[in-house]
Amino acid sequence: MTVSLSKTPPDSTTTGSVPIRCVDRAGLAAALSTVPEPTQRWLRANGFTAAPDTHALVPAADGALGEVWAGVRSASHPWALAALPKALPVGRYHLGSEGLAIEPQAAAFSWELGSYVFDLYKPPRRAAAELLMADDTHSRRGLVLAAAVASTRDLVNTPAEHMGPAQLAEAVRLVAQQHGAKFRQIVGDALLKQNLPAIHAVGRAAAADRAPRLIELNWGDPKHPKLCLVGKGVCFDCGGLNIKGGEGMRLMKKDMGGAANALGLAQMVMALELPVRLQLLIPAVENAIAGNAYRPGDVFKTRAGLHIEIGNTDAEGRVVLCDALAFGAESQPDLMIDLATLTGAARIALGAQLPALFTRQMAHGRELVDLGLAIDDPLWHMPLWHPYHAQIESDIADIVNTGRGGLGGAITAALFLADFVPAGLDWLHLDLFAWNDGARPGRPVGGEAQTLRTLLAWLERRYGEGRA
Ligand code: BES
Ligand code: ZN
Ligand code: ZN
Repeated sequence: MTVSLSKTPPDSTTTGSVPIRCVDRAGLAAALSTVPEPTQRWLRANGFTAAPDTHALVPAADGALGEVWAGVRSASHPWALAALPKALPVGRYHLGSEGLAIEPQAAAFSWELGSYVFDLYKPPRRAAAELLMADDTHSRRGLVLAAAVASTRDLVNTPAEHMGPAQLAEAVRLVAQQHGAKFRQIVGDALLKQNLPAIHAVGRAAAADRAPRLIELNWGDPKHPKLCLVGKGVCFDCGGLNIKGGEGMRLMKKDMGGAANALGLAQMVMALELPVRLQLLIPAVENAIAGNAYRPGDVFKTRAGLHIEIGNTDAEGRVVLCDALAFGAESQPDLMIDLATLTGAARIALGAQLPALFTRQMAHGRELVDLGLAIDDPLWHMPLWHPYHAQIESDIADIVNTGRGGLGGAITAALFLADFVPAGLDWLHLDLFAWNDGARPGRPVGGEAQTLRTLLAWLERRYGEGRA
């Protein structure tokens, strides 16, 4: 934790911390006019223009660090302070009374994630600077969101060797314990007995030491509306018998990114005590190659009763998800949301930063796109274009897991999933990358939580806010 909350608002005299003055470009001239001329000259000489994510160190009369001037986009921007913790000299800081008043949630969130490093295998290059803040509901909420994002990233960043189906289940068990939720899992051959054959089919090649499973967490008041979150938990995707090339396989430890994001959202929902009954479902498998691997051309009966033909073993995500979606739908949730690193096609269409949203409700799409843009956690609405369903019709089964022709791959994947979600059920499907392919302040290269703040805000609109 690099943000420390205290009962009384921090200031230099009581804490010995250095004040930070936040300024945006539009306010720079006015801010400069309030300080003595030598300070103005110092800031100009150091080239400080209040550009976002830049700062200047201003000395006190005795030569010690007196103040930091920090350029920010705006007082409410979620990443406002993200560049500072790894750039400022190690020490303690607080937001001064001069300059823009950064919203406490944004301050806590951006500072905490500004210091994020994945340090499982080597120590951070340097310690992060510390921010002292007053303890209130907004700063606490910022830290709750940041903690969920950080644990999502950690799960995605952990290599497949140390994040197989069993370890993913342990991560869920730990979160369940922290929030007084119920945890259970259906493992290995029990998947067949409990009628989850599609999850078993994909995971069976790795069954000996990395058994496939359906991980389940349940939380909340049974009287509240049921929210079902489903996350694709493919702990490594080599493609199966339709093996990927080296380039395509390189990042496939992140193919459980949907599961990590679903767990991150579940953490937010539980920590903030949203008035919902939460069910989290993670079909967790490794898509591996062995003598007993599932094959192109195979047909499996799924939990929903539909027979699916395997056109390509690398389209495994939709296969494991179809049983999980059918399982989740059985208890008639008010809303079902699945998150999955489902298709390369969604990445080609929208790139790394924009998850693709599919939903049967046009209004949900519009709301979520607007919300995502407003809080800088974007997603883009794509069509469940029914005419393309013809591409996933099979000659010998109900449906095939790869689209004929290969066009519109993110859409045909979403249409495949839709066949397992009853028509009347409110459903969002997010096809995401779960990875930063370039670094931005607070967002280093590596695993990423995407759309969680947007989904949380939308859920709060729908169900009401929980504990602040
Ligand atoms: N996990 C991949 C999708 C993926 C690839 C997501 C790269 C993000 C980056 C998925 O299981 C997959 O391999 N899908 C195939 C489907 C195809 C065989 C129909 C794809 O998208 O190429
Ligand atoms: Zn695949
Ligand atoms: Zn995959």
